[in-house]
Amino acid sequence: MSTPSITRRLWRDVTLFDGLDTQPQPMAVVVAGDRIERVVPMSELDPAEAVACETLGRGGVMTPGLIDCHTHLVFGGSRADEFEKRLEGVSYEEIARQGGGILSTVRATREASEPELFALARPRLEALMREGVTTVEIKSGYGLSVADELKMLRVARRLGEALPVRVVTTLLGAHALPPEYQGDSDGYIDLVCREMIPAAAAQGLADAVDVFCEKIAFSVAQCERVFEAAATHGLPIKAHAEQLSNLGGSAMAARHGALSADHIEYLDAAGVAALREAGSTAVLLPGAFHTLRETQLPPIAALREAGVPMAVATDANPGSSPLFMPTLMLNFACTLFRLTPREALAGMTAHGARALGLHRQSLGRIAEGAPADLCLWDAETPAELAYAVQPGRLRQRIFQGQCNFH
Ligand code: NIG
Ligand code: FE
Repeated sequence: MSTPSITRRLWRDVTLFDGLDTQPQPMAVVVAGDRIERVVPMSELDPAEAVACETLGRGGVMTPGLIDCHTHLVFGGSRADEFEKRLEGVSYEEIARQGGGILSTVRATREASEPELFALARPRLEALMREGVTTVEIKSGYGLSVADELKMLRVARRLGEALPVRVVTTLLGAHALPPEYQGDSDGYIDLVCREMIPAAAAQGLADAVDVFCEKIAFSVAQCERVFEAAATHGLPIKAHAEQLSNLGGSAMAARHGALSADHIEYLDAAGVAALREAGSTAVLLPGAFHTLRETQLPPIAALREAGVPMAVATDANPGSSPLFMPTLMLNFACTLFRLTPREALAGMTAHGARALGLHRQSLGRIAEGAPADLCLWDAETPAELAYAVQPGRLRQRIFQGQCNFH
């Protein structure tokens, strides 16, 4: 019996950003099946090998497929009214305290059926894919009951089955206190630990567990209980922490081996040291910083100095970051947070993968043996991707070796 031969696909003369650095010379990339087989300078490309390949692209900038490691894409309703309120001077925190904010999305998400949520989320995800995303993390957190959180996670899983994109799911039961638990936040944390996490784990619906550690959400001690429950079920953890104030949630999450601490505008030196020691990733969310007109910058210089990997994500959600454009986040990471374009790109490739624990599978890298998730851009240098906000430059998006979009 003969083995069917695998078609090898070749991209020639590309300027290659490999997830961490730009290669100094024009490169050739050969993909066999769903894996990257060879990455060589053009000068070393064997002409016989080139002839045996199907050439799919010449020139341009090639990067790993973008990894958006923090989104809330599944939700019902809209919060345009709150956008207007914030323009009139009411703060995000104030709106949340009045029962709006996250809870307004919870009401709409609870009312929506699973097919409705799927239909709403699909175009949002397609918008990210059109901008180069091949891996996306999607959180629950607008259900806040066992049934509604599982409903959100099922929708996220279905999106990954229906579209050519890798979806990683995160249970964010501890996002806000639902109205029926008003005055009993410990009781709600019991529900998250004793019912939500076990059910999501048993049904294989969550790849990780997240919390919102903040004065308007849950305390450090409550979040720690959630992390202990996640550990019992073998689930990795991450945290929304130090977004509006410095409670020490990031350091606590790091002590529990968190994959990442996200937002972290108010992170202090002890928090930076804790992330470094634990090998956790700092996830920067410039879209939320921009939308909330935050003025406290995350401690970028200290993170850089400590060698903490910095990821960049959209945080796409209906409230704090209604921004569904990953390449805009590359620009914001540079203009608002003063990352270099190289750091911003690493933040949405190699370090985005790390924030999801996917670096172990070489995701977010262009290297021999890595999954063939790639983007080919109409640009001369990788820095241009962060420099100009210009949608439509994605020439090809390659997911698992297949060219899905031109
Ligand atoms: O990442 N910080 C808390 N959670 C989300 C916001 C969710 C919302 O406003 O709906 C965030 O910013
Ligand atoms: Fe978030």
